[in-house]
Amino acid sequence: MFRPSRFVLFTLILIALGLAACRPAAASAPTPTAPAAVADIAAHPGSGDEVAFTLVTGFAEGRMVFIGQGGAIDGRVNPDLHVPQGAHVTLTLVNGDGALHNLYIDELGVHSADLAGQGNRTEVTFVADRPGTFAYYCAIPGHRQAGMEGKLIITGSSAPAAENPSRQAAAPALATPQVAPADPQAVDIVRDPTDLPAPLPPRDPQKVVVNLETTEVSGRLADGTTYRYWTFNGKVPGPFLRVRVGDTVEVHLKNRADSLMAHSVDFHAVTGPGGGAVATQTQPGGETMFTFKALNPGLYVYHCATPMVAEHIANGMYGLILVEPEGGLPPVDREFYVMQGELYTAQPFGTSGHLSEDVNKLLAEQPEYFVFNGASLGLTSDAHQMHARVGETIRIFFGVGGPNFTSSFHVIGEIFDRVYDQASLTSAPLTNVQTTLVPPGGAAMVEFKVEVPGRYILVDHALSRLQRGLAGYLIVEGEPNPEIFSATPAAGGGH
Ligand code: CU
Ligand code: CU
Repeated sequence: MFRPSRFVLFTLILIALGLAACRPAAASAPTPTAPAAVADIAAHPGSGDEVAFTLVTGFAEGRMVFIGQGGAIDGRVNPDLHVPQGAHVTLTLVNGDGALHNLYIDELGVHSADLAGQGNRTEVTFVADRPGTFAYYCAIPGHRQAGMEGKLIITGSSAPAAENPSRQAAAPALATPQVAPADPQAVDIVRDPTDLPAPLPPRDPQKVVVNLETTEVSGRLADGTTYRYWTFNGKVPGPFLRVRVGDTVEVHLKNRADSLMAHSVDFHAVTGPGGGAVATQTQPGGETMFTFKALNPGLYVYHCATPMVAEHIANGMYGLILVEPEGGLPPVDREFYVMQGELYTAQPFGTSGHLSEDVNKLLAEQPEYFVFNGASLGLTSDAHQMHARVGETIRIFFGVGGPNFTSSFHVIGEIFDRVYDQASLTSAPLTNVQTTLVPPGGAAMVEFKVEVPGRYILVDHALSRLQRGLAGYLIVEGEPNPEIFSATPAAGGGH
């Protein structure tokens, strides 16, 4: 279940995602390399010296980091903090970016309070009672892996290190994951699959304003199980956006004031740095804006691209934008909006209560839940199952937020008449397809006519995932069609 967090994995991924250029540091421009720095307050070896450092949280080199403030560490990213053994050390943490942070040094029993709110500060003091090199880091899930880690180096005196039993006792125990009670205030975060705009009327390209608000909300993951989701506009996936090729899209991103994290948006439909992520790193209570021209028709994923990106996506921050080709899409009777994702909870699949995230499982790509539209079996409920009538043609806009798993998308009992593979809307569709591959950060548009009444189940044909919450129902009503299908229903059912 729970494994010790000893990850030394850093965020090459994030840099690869094109974030290297994102957001300047909150403090002065950092020096890329951080050679050994000494405390700014003179520290002569020996007991009782006072040493102080100030670290400001911020972004640098595309990562979340600590930036030294004052003295020899000024402007340095994740500076080495050198102190003599026996010194009384004060570390001041300043919140430079508005997201929630803290400062931990496990071996020394140092745990600051969690610090929210840009400009706020907190302090920890401790005695550097033994020589060695110790990691200081932010223990907010994902932040250490996103880059918030540095070294405290205690230089030994010749005298033997004084044992400090109380410090030892204060060192954190590796706890088994606790489960809080389910949050009674949790809301339904499932985006209804019918919640999408109608096809655009024929028109010339124009300016379109898109308003996104990022929120962190307690949502229902399953019956009796809740989870803290991060969303665009309160639902998973985010709103289905619909523009036409040639439109100029003005994106406004607001991060609600009660958020603990910075958020942003990267549209795969954008031609430009970071898909917009560079322009939209938005602190709690903040608002950012950028415009882009929709040059290429297609069905595109958008997602939050704030470090650690995989964490923001896993927690629900993804959606689809359709850029209709010239002349629009062929008419169909019904359109649905479905996205697949994974959730990495500390507690095993099926646990009741308010579950917490597990960044180690995320990095190991070991999800507990697979979800359509955010919740376990979310699209099988009466509230969110899909409905159609015999004889109608269905279109599903299907995307994978992920962050990690490719979907083998399949509808049990149906054949896709047309698959717009890789969501290419300008290529001829594949015809008569049973299962189609959709990668993370990718999409497909599938169409099929329903001829026989009954219940059809949307799945990823990697069917172990069905056991982890991944299913949706399409209920087809109408007259039986025995010429096409005739059977006496057996007990059970299934594939
Ligand atoms: Cu942090
Ligand atoms: Cu985010």
